[in-house]
This record gives sequence, structure tokens and C-alpha cells, in this order.
Amino acid sequence: MEPKSLAGRVAVVTGGSRGLGKAIALSLGSAGASLALVARDMAALNAAAVAQGKAGAEVAAFSADATDERQVARLQGDILARFNHVDILVNNAGMNIRKPVVEFSLAEWNTVLATNLTSAFLMCRALVPQMKGRGYGRIVNLTSIMSHISMPGRAAYSASKAGLLGFTKALALELAGDGITVVAVSPGPFATEMNTALIEDPELNRYFTSRIPIGRWGNAAEIGQLVLYLCSSEAGFVTGTDILVDGGWTAQ
Ligand SMILES: NC(=O)c1ccc[n+]([C@@H]2O[C@H](COP(=O)([O-])OP(=O)(O)OC[C@H]3O[C@@H](n4cnc5c(N)ncnc54)[C@H](OP(=O)(O)O)[C@@H]3O)[C@@H](O)[C@H]2O)c1
Repeated sequence: MEPKSLAGRVAVVTGGSRGLGKAIALSLGSAGASLALVARDMAALNAAAVAQGKAGAEVAAFSADATDERQVARLQGDILARFNHVDILVNNAGMNIRKPVVEFSLAEWNTVLATNLTSAFLMCRALVPQMKGRGYGRIVNLTSIMSHISMPGRAAYSASKAGLLGFTKALALELAGDGITVVAVSPGPFATEMNTALIEDPELNRYFTSRIPIGRWGNAAEIGQLVLYLCSSEAGFVTGTDILVDGGWTAQ
């Protein structure tokens, strides 16, 4: 890939304030893409935007709840007013509630589904129409190993992530003739805020590390570099599928 292979491209990254989204934005920005970072907490977003700016990217922060139809409509207008067009959409915003099915309230279930699945629908519905007609487009959805396998306590998360993989496949087929690829990235355990409770509990940390054949948690930069490749012109034939990045977990 050329060093500034994404120069002139505009990338929207939901959940771009921390964790995997921040690393993805850093990789895309380092390749020359302009960045629209989206999350709810404006202070965290601003801090991330400053860091991306120091790394040389043109960047703007947009506070929005990606599960809210009206806020996503406003976000669409704000991003297009600032950048004029969008080439890359990374649907990375996500969350997890871990507990047995019978202990879930309907509100908790709906929150997980809305954050991990409905947000991607709303963002794609808002941005895909103007992504068409440019001969290039990339949509990357953050799915999970839990799109394929599961564990006790992960019913809502697995349901949302398996749904997002199905969504990825269907949208890839809808957009295959437009030069827009739709791909999912399915991480195994990565050391981000989402997993703080698991990382800080010595027993759980040992358990998770023992389940990963590579023997360690993933580093966010390892996802960033993969997403950069998926957004390159060289990846134009990769669509309607996911790439597992799990240290070998699902090979067992
Ligand atoms: N870490 C892992 O091991 C792992 C494994 C498999 C898949 N994944 C997936 O990878 C993605 C990123 O995970 P992560 O570990 O980086 O998570 P994280 O550190 O918890 O970050 C989540 C990001 O999403 C944003 N977000 C959450 N709800 C949102 C909403 N309703 N609207 C807009 N933004 C929202 C958060 O910002 P605000 O709270 O300020 O909105 C934050 O920027 C998620 O989809 C996750 O399911 C992660």
C-alpha cells in the first residue's frame, strides 16, 4: 500500500473516542484519510481528536448516540456539511451486558441490540445513499468471535453480533455493483475498556488468556492495521464476509 493511500478519503468511525475505534481511526488517519469521530461523550471525543490531529490527520469530533434515529439524521447533515462526502464508514460503537438470559430486563436486551446492531443499520441508511456513485466505498462492521461461537452470559451480545454479521452479508450483496465493499471484523478478546472487568479480575484474566492459543490479549493496533487493509483499493474483492482476529480462539 502507498503510505498515504487514503489521501482525499473521508472516514466516519463510530466509537472513535477509545479502544478499537480509536486505533482504527489512527490507522486510517495515518494513511491520509480525514476522520469524523462519533461517540456520545464529547470530552473523550475531543481528547481523541486532539491525539489524531497530533498524528497528522484532519479530524472532527461529532457527539451523537448512534442508536437514536434523529441524532443520526442530524449527524449525517453535520458530517456532510463538514467534509462534503463520506467514503469509509466503520460501525464500531458497541457495548456488552454479561448475565444469564433470565436476569436480563427487556430494556437491557434492547440496549445491547440497539447499540451493536441497530446503530449500524441507522448509520448505513443515513450515509450509503451519498456513498454511491463514487466508484469506491468501504463499510467495516465490528462483529466478534461471538458472531460465531458463544459463552454463558453472552446471549444478547451474541445475538447482536450474529445479527450484525447477517446484516453485513445482505448489505454487501445490495452494494456489490456500486464499488462499495461491506466487510466485518470479528475480534477475539482485546484489552480495551469494554473488558476492564475481565482484565482486572485475576481469575477471569487467567481463564481468558488460557483460552487464547497465542497466549495474550489482542492489541488494538492489530485491528487498526487490518481495517486499513480492508479500506485499501487492494481489498476491493473482499466483501460479504468477516475476518476473525482472535489469536486462534475459534480454531479450537
Ligand atoms: N474489545 C474486545 O475484546 C472486542 C471483541 C470483539 C468485538 N468487539 C467490538 O469492537 C467494538 C469496539 O469495542 P471496544 O472494546 O473498543 O469498546 P469500548 O472501549 O467500550 O468503546 C466503545 C466505543 O463505542 C462508543 N459508543 C458506545 N455506545 C454508543 C452509542 N450508542 N452511540 C455512539 N457511540 C457509542 C463509546 O463511546 P461513548 O460511550 O462516549 O458513546 C466508545 O467510543 C465494539 O463493537 C465491540 O463489540 C470488541
